[in-house]
Amino acid sequence: MVEPKIAMVTGANRGLGFEISRQLGKKGITVLMGARNSEKGEQAAKTLRGEGLETHAIALEVTDSASIASAVERIRSDFGKVDVLVNNAAVLLDIGIQPSDVKEEMLRSTFEVNFFGPYRLTQQLVPLLKKSRRGRIVNLGTQVASLNQLADPNSPLREDICPAYQTSKTALNAMTLVFAKELKEFGIKINSVCPGWVMTDMRHDDLPDYGDAVRPMSPQEAVEKLIWLTELPDDGPTGGFFSEGRSVPW
Ligand SMILES: NC(=O)c1ccc[n+]([C@@H]2O[C@H](COP(=O)([O-])OP(=O)(O)OC[C@H]3O[C@@H](n4cnc5c(N)ncnc54)[C@H](OP(=O)(O)O)[C@@H]3O)[C@@H](O)[C@H]2O)c1
Repeated sequence: MVEPKIAMVTGANRGLGFEISRQLGKKGITVLMGARNSEKGEQAAKTLRGEGLETHAIALEVTDSASIASAVERIRSDFGKVDVLVNNAAVLLDIGIQPSDVKEEMLRSTFEVNFFGPYRLTQQLVPLLKKSRRGRIVNLGTQVASLNQLADPNSPLREDICPAYQTSKTALNAMTLVFAKELKEFGIKINSVCPGWVMTDMRHDDLPDYGDAVRPMSPQEAVEKLIWLTELPDDGPTGGFFSEGRSVPW
């Protein structure tokens, strides 16, 4: 019998995390759905089980080291390995706030969720990813945090101002690159992906007018365009930044 693949998705109770869990589940993968609110996590996992998918809720507040440790211990004892890790959970708290006006507390709380959380979780799951034949990590990033874009006076994304979110996601991209180098010899691949503009609670009608440059997508469409990064073949990329199936500048 083929051993089932195990995927861990953070922030899986709604938005892109929920849809990523659904599309992984449809591939026959056992999905561990991380949620900081256990009730919402259980409800989300139950909804997908109702669609015939194999899902389990895992209590996970990514800013809390003890919560990460107990989630990792549960995964180790109940599942023994991780094949796919999707660092999806994030917050966007400072939309429209100029860099000079962002309070230190907001900067720190954004970095806690968007950078330190995925960094700590990835560190602690590396031993379980090494037990997979084909460990794959996907970090949800954004092109509004691309240094290339930020430095381009003609970028259509230039009007999107959210400095805490942007700098935290730039740091997450650096994390992708440093882990890619370390994990290469173990066959573990890690990439960043920008899902595009997706109609979730995080981003619905609050974007500036980009003209034709950016078009909103449903979570289903966005996830269909990024799920390939969770099932990369052995000769697939690592340490890359992608959007809608294409490599994009850092
Ligand atoms: N939507 C877009 O257009 C867009 C564009 C570019 C990149 N992204 C990226 O895509 C990812 C998913 O975004 P989304 O639009 O689906 O966002 P969303 O609808 O706001 O969902 C965010 C998820 O993260 C969870 N979360 C937040 N803080 C957490 C914490 N401290 N610990 C654990 N979970 C936490 C939330 O849980 P609660 O329900 O408990 O709050 C929720 O499940 C994010 O990394 C985002 O930066 C999105």
